[in-house]
Amino acid sequence: MNALRDVFVRHVAQTSPAPIGLEVVRAQGAWLYTADGRRYLDLIAGIGVSALGHGHPAVLEAIAAQARRHLHVMVYGEYVIEAQVRLAERLAGLLPAPLECVYFTNSGAEAIEGALKTARKHTRRSRFVAFDGAYHGDTMAALALMGNPAFRAPFEPLPGPVSHLPYDDAAALEAIDSTVAAVVVEPVQAESGVRIPSAGFMRALRERCDRVGAMLVYDEVLTGLGRTGRLFAMEHFGVVPDLAVMAKALGGGLPLGAFCGSQRLLGELAHDPPLGHITTFGGHPLSCAAGLAALEVIVSGRLWERASTLGQELADGVRRLAGAEVAAVRAIGALIGIEFGGAGRAQAFVRESLVRGVIINWTLNAERVVRLAPPLNMGAAEVDFGLQMMAEALEASRAIGKPRA
Ligand SMILES: Cc1ncc(COP(=O)(O)O)c(C=O)c1O
Repeated sequence: MNALRDVFVRHVAQTSPAPIGLEVVRAQGAWLYTADGRRYLDLIAGIGVSALGHGHPAVLEAIAAQARRHLHVMVYGEYVIEAQVRLAERLAGLLPAPLECVYFTNSGAEAIEGALKTARKHTRRSRFVAFDGAYHGDTMAALALMGNPAFRAPFEPLPGPVSHLPYDDAAALEAIDSTVAAVVVEPVQAESGVRIPSAGFMRALRERCDRVGAMLVYDEVLTGLGRTGRLFAMEHFGVVPDLAVMAKALGGGLPLGAFCGSQRLLGELAHDPPLGHITTFGGHPLSCAAGLAALEVIVSGRLWERASTLGQELADGVRRLAGAEVAAVRAIGALIGIEFGGAGRAQAFVRESLVRGVIINWTLNAERVVRLAPPLNMGAAEVDFGLQMMAEALEASRAIGKPRA
């Protein structure tokens, strides 16, 4: 019996009946090293967080330098914290106008909550619109937006009202009317199996929101900062939302989220009542310093371009390996969805890949789809290793994977 794993099961609250349970002792680049002396290729980058892989020297140096200066000194928004100011300034310079003002949070779900509150306060309307298949986090209001009723049901009643519309269906947008405070949308639905919408749908959504005075909120928590082959996924559609929400890669491996909008819009949170939206740890100096260092590496290396070629290499490789059990391979930048004919096949592929030292995972709202979201700067040797092991895993899962349905 592995003693630490035993303690993990007993004392760390579990979120699934069968956690992966790798005992990680070290992580470097695209690799995780475990207590049993093995190494694993991290093709999901900690679910989209570790865009530069693990332990990037520029990020570690920024964390050390900030730790020597100071850690937490005051609740968010009261003192001038240089790490926050510099990251906000850099983001504002990279985002399209009018997204110039940043409210930092600890997580993606918290940033979604902040965006919803901002939209309610600004519009004085109550209703939200989200999409089937959506995932925006697991706090109560973020969960209310979740586009899979099975995950909402045990926790109802949830904040609302929320209406769910079909994703990528421009005709359905007629249902967005002048009672709607905000429409929240992912530029690519990752948890729904890497669903990539048409530019026409995203533009129609912008137009509909403008027509009825609803705010458009882009959830770029996973898609932001190079993942989809552009610095921000909104660039694929030529659409600028009223609020952009980020997290995951934003903190360079430390917890950090943000919602960004115009100064006028976010300024509304400062009054009536004052301190109506506050956080103790949001925008922690360590997270902001790490995030700025990571962002500089992404921008100076134009890593969104590497994300595109990397995603293409992996997606083409998987397409070559795939037999009849794979229904589709979808890729946008370094975000790849491999759709199997059945959930059993997908699960067997994930399991068999792990056995061979490659970490990939299934998606919450599409049990037949396996997702890859590797570090954007992953090298050719890792791509070769990943494809070789996935070839073996596909072969093995053909023998044992039995579709559930
Ligand atoms: C698109 C999207 N939005 C929001 C969230 C929630 O972020 P967090 O887990 O940091 O609360 C996630 C997390 O996976 C996500 O993928």
